[in-house]
Amino acid sequence: MSYRNVSREALVGTITLGAVFVAGYLFGRKKLFRMSISKSHCEAKDNPLMQYVLNHSMREHPVLQKLRLRTMEDSLNVMMVACEQSQFMANLTKLIKAKKAIEIGVYTGYNTLNIALALPEDGVVIACDISAEYTNIGKPFWKEAGVEKKIDLRLQPALKTLDELMSSGQAETFDFVFIDADKLNYDNYYEKCLLLLRKGGLIAIDNVLWGGKVLDPSGDQDAVAIDKLNKKLLKDVRVTLSMLTVGDGLTLAMKL
Ligand SMILES: C[S@@+](CC[C@H](N)C(=O)[O-])C[C@H]1O[C@@H](n2cnc3c(N)ncnc32)[C@H](O)[C@@H]1O
Ligand SMILES: *[C@@H]1O[C@H](CO)[C@@H](O)[C@H](O)[C@H]1NC(C)=O
Ligand SMILES: *[C@@H]1O[C@H](CO)[C@@H](O)[C@H](O)[C@H]1NC(C)=O
Repeated sequence: MSYRNVSREALVGTITLGAVFVAGYLFGRKKLFRMSISKSHCEAKDNPLMQYVLNHSMREHPVLQKLRLRTMEDSLNVMMVACEQSQFMANLTKLIKAKKAIEIGVYTGYNTLNIALALPEDGVVIACDISAEYTNIGKPFWKEAGVEKKIDLRLQPALKTLDELMSSGQAETFDFVFIDADKLNYDNYYEKCLLLLRKGGLIAIDNVLWGGKVLDPSGDQDAVAIDKLNKKLLKDVRVTLSMLTVGDGLTLAMKL
């Protein structure tokens, strides 16, 4: 074997090893990426790490569990909030001693119920949606959990409800907002909610990663709108900012 051949073999060996290494690295990264933004509805069949998270943290109220199982029968159940994210937001609501909350985009009201459960007896969540069909699914469960009087459902475009809250003198009175409706209006919701929020109040914005499409938003108008808001928030000195990789991405902004 000539020197030349040895060196060629060594080179081939190095390249092969390198390729395996790079593939392993990329594969590992891809797996991590998938796991870090997966959304759970309290089960995670193909993701043991997510299962571990759920198994070691979920304390779902029995009526929340019933509503989740009922929601899973609906064909649009992918819209439901991730349950571990909802529990986290309910815990945050308690932590900041929220009394007044707004939910923009209710669907079957899983998160609305979770927030209502975390509010004190005299608390209220203004629940904004345009669909009687979806919200009617949740109503009996709100009642069963004994919190229906804390849920003020307004069936009309959310922007109209926010304007009404402003004109009825409720600026700077809300403690917590969850934005989870039509993505093209996200920035409008954000601006109006910032006015309705007290100092130290929290805005939570869902789907800020939009299934990863924010990396290449062109061609998807929802992704473009979300990416634009993400870029605006980064520079927005009116709020503190965190972007969490729970669910489909959750931004938390506290009003300064
Ligand atoms: C992603 S779902 C909300 C999920 C919900 N937050 C949960 O915890 O399961 C979005 C909801 O926004 C509602 N929606 C869409 N456009 C709206 C608008 N302009 N005003 C109010 N709600 C709207 C839809 O009817 C739908 O129920
Ligand atoms: C989570 O709990 C389920 C149900 O008890 C069990 O089947 C599953 O193996 C658990 N997974 C992990 C990773 O803890
Ligand atoms: C957090 O949420 C879980 C489930 O709703 C509940 O059991 C727990 O008491 C909450 N903790 C706080 C501090 O709100």
